[in-house]
Amino acid sequence: MTTFQTTHIVYFSPTHTTEKIARAIAEGIGMERRIETDLTLDESVSAIEINHSLTILATPVYKGRVAPVALQRMKRLKASGSPVILVVVYGNRDYEDALVELRDMAIELGFTPLSAGAFIGEHSYSTPQRPIAAGRPDADDLYQAMQFGKDSLSKLERTNLPVPAFYIKGNVPYKPFITGTPSAPVCNENCFVCGECVEVCPTHAIRISPDGTSIETDVNRCIRCCACVKVCPNGARVYDNPFAAFLHENFSARREPELFL
Ligand SMILES: Cc1cc2nc3c(=O)[nH]c(=O)nc-3n(C[C@H](O)[C@H](O)[C@H](O)COP(=O)(O)O)c2cc1C
Ligand code: SF4
Ligand code: SF4
Repeated sequence: MTTFQTTHIVYFSPTHTTEKIARAIAEGIGMERRIETDLTLDESVSAIEINHSLTILATPVYKGRVAPVALQRMKRLKASGSPVILVVVYGNRDYEDALVELRDMAIELGFTPLSAGAFIGEHSYSTPQRPIAAGRPDADDLYQAMQFGKDSLSKLERTNLPVPAFYIKGNVPYKPFITGTPSAPVCNENCFVCGECVEVCPTHAIRISPDGTSIETDVNRCIRCCACVKVCPNGARVYDNPFAAFLHENFSARREPELFL
């Protein structure tokens, strides 16, 4: 049996659903010491060494894969055999190959996968007019995440490291990640240039214009995470996206978390 006293949560989470799930899992594990590494706004490349802690590695799913910026930012992690709980959060459509991609990257970074879970979060493109998994993770999701944390810890306590390989749903080779035509949310006439959207953009794609009267967005930097849309206090930031209607019409049936231990 291996004992650990620290849980280390590492996540990328522009609209906070991934962060909520990761924290609920950590709560279920219930270790005294918890370290959080939030990579959402952190573009630094200096190495983060992870030793002697149970790590939770959590990312949103973009196009059935690990969100590319999350994948890039997680490359700073250097583990020496530490056990890791792999977590993907998706917007009720599907997570396809994201969890196996996260597993493969975690192994490359030096982790030993312990368990894996795919959870559901409100879709980045969800709006009050066209909800997609609105309000998730809800109380049920968070309860399941806590329970998953407890079950992962029990597995760790009865297993000698390295943990034997276990089944995770997904395919290798992964589905291709096709980068579409660049686009980004825009501001409407309700924008009063408060700058809140600038603060939350993970790729620094937004700035206040030099004369201070408007918001400028670099579409080539935008990853369409919709953090700016969801943070705007005045409903002034909108992403007019035909895919949102398709998702609302076709992926409203509630999906449940899938867990692999
Ligand atoms: C560019 C992009 C692609 C996405 N692709 C998928 C997808 O393939 N399947 C899915 O169910 N949700 C997809 N989503 C929704 C997110 O996975 C979901 O909203 C997640 O909860 C966002 O995590 P966050 O709150 O931590 O940012 C996508 C979102 C974005 C912005
Ligand atoms: S958060 Fe909304 S109101 Fe504030 S600058 Fe951005 S778009 Fe404008
Ligand atoms: S501008 Fe693009 S990358 Fe920046 S917060 Fe908005 S959607 Fe996300």
